[in-house]
Amino acid sequence: FDTPLLDPRGRALRDLRISVTDRCNFRCSYCMPKEVFDDQHHFLPHASLLSFEEITRTAAVFVRLGVRKLRLTGGEPLLRRQIEQLIAQLSALRTPEGAPVDIALTTNGSILARKAQALRAGGLRRVTVSLDALDDAIFQRMNDVGFPVAEVLAGIDAALAAGLAPVKLNMVVKRGTNDHEIVPMARYMRDRYGDRVRLRFIEFMDVGATNGWRMDEVVPSAEVRARIQAHWPLQPLQDGPAGETAERWRYADGRGEVGFISSVTHAFCGDCNRMRLSTEGRLFTCLFGSQGHDLRDLIRGGASDETLARRIRQIWGARQDRYSELRGTQQAPTASAPRVEMHYIGG
Ligand code: GTP
Ligand code: 5AD
Ligand code: SF4
Ligand code: SF4
Repeated sequence: FDTPLLDPRGRALRDLRISVTDRCNFRCSYCMPKEVFDDQHHFLPHASLLSFEEITRTAAVFVRLGVRKLRLTGGEPLLRRQIEQLIAQLSALRTPEGAPVDIALTTNGSILARKAQALRAGGLRRVTVSLDALDDAIFQRMNDVGFPVAEVLAGIDAALAAGLAPVKLNMVVKRGTNDHEIVPMARYMRDRYGDRVRLRFIEFMDVGATNGWRMDEVVPSAEVRARIQAHWPLQPLQDGPAGETAERWRYADGRGEVGFISSVTHAFCGDCNRMRLSTEGRLFTCLFGSQGHDLRDLIRGGASDETLARRIRQIWGARQDRYSELRGTQQAPTASAPRVEMHYIGG
């Protein structure tokens, strides 16, 4: 259990992102297009999901190996029944130095208003909400199930009221779909919340194999930033901790900050410290992986913590991933199998 665990490129394993369900009540076109994920689609049967006990035990091994941040994702993680109990179990974990572990959750916000208090009571400290538009018609078109934006906005308010602050917001920008919402979104968040909400703009990515990604629908972060700066001057903030995905900028007038997640135009693989655990217990060393490595057989086959740790060390020790850096170059890996889908692996 010596730490930190480094991959061959010298990147430490610090962040474990746990997908707790492959289901979602939204059908965002960039993630779970309705045409593909329809009534005929088979989601994972309950027995193949890792139980809360299995997840917690696995997370504990990761913490002993140097992980300091756990993020629950999905699908939509709040659809997993009693998720607050899992959070309570994870909250009890301690690092070898005796410190608590940072626990976060990424949600579409649809049932956050109902759940925020229970999540906070379970020990959750912070939450990231996906929100692609303020305009109700555009939002409903993007989630593609006609879900009203007002309920997500109520979820953000409930999270803040419950003490889950600051709330981070993720807006995936697609040219011609919601790029004209960039400035209204920035205005609304800075006027209403100031520093309590951190809006981040995400470049539309070519994850998975079903979202019909096209470069001409990507709005480069530099352009998003320019559009905001035309209204409110921005100043760059110092880089945060290593492995951060967002470049952070503050409003010169002190009304908080925004971030830019530029996987396409400015890859951040160089210090990528993230491992992902799928709902059924497969480990992925990159968002753009295909098959991952099964851990569930070990977990269910009576393997000791030491055996699990050895397997994890082996997987991280062989990790060469830097997909976003290689995208579009000669060295770009040609996938032998379809790439894993975002709703399966989480964001
Ligand atoms: P914290 O620092 O824990 O608050 O999280 P974060 O700021 O890194 O944000 P989060 O983990 O919510 O990631 C935001 C978004 O960035 C995700 O929803 C993905 O769209 C994208 N993202 C996160 N990790 C990766 C990654 O490893 N590779 C790529 N290409 N994109 C990522
Ligand atoms: N490109 C960029 N971001 C994506 N997300 C899902 N699919 C994509 C994609 N193709 C983001 C969502 C959410 C998080 C889980 O991942 O906006 O915030
Ligand atoms: Fe669901 Fe999030 Fe995927 Fe949208 S991006 S379909 S909310 S998992
Ligand atoms: Fe990490 Fe892969 Fe994303 Fe690069 S593309 S930052 S290696 S997950």
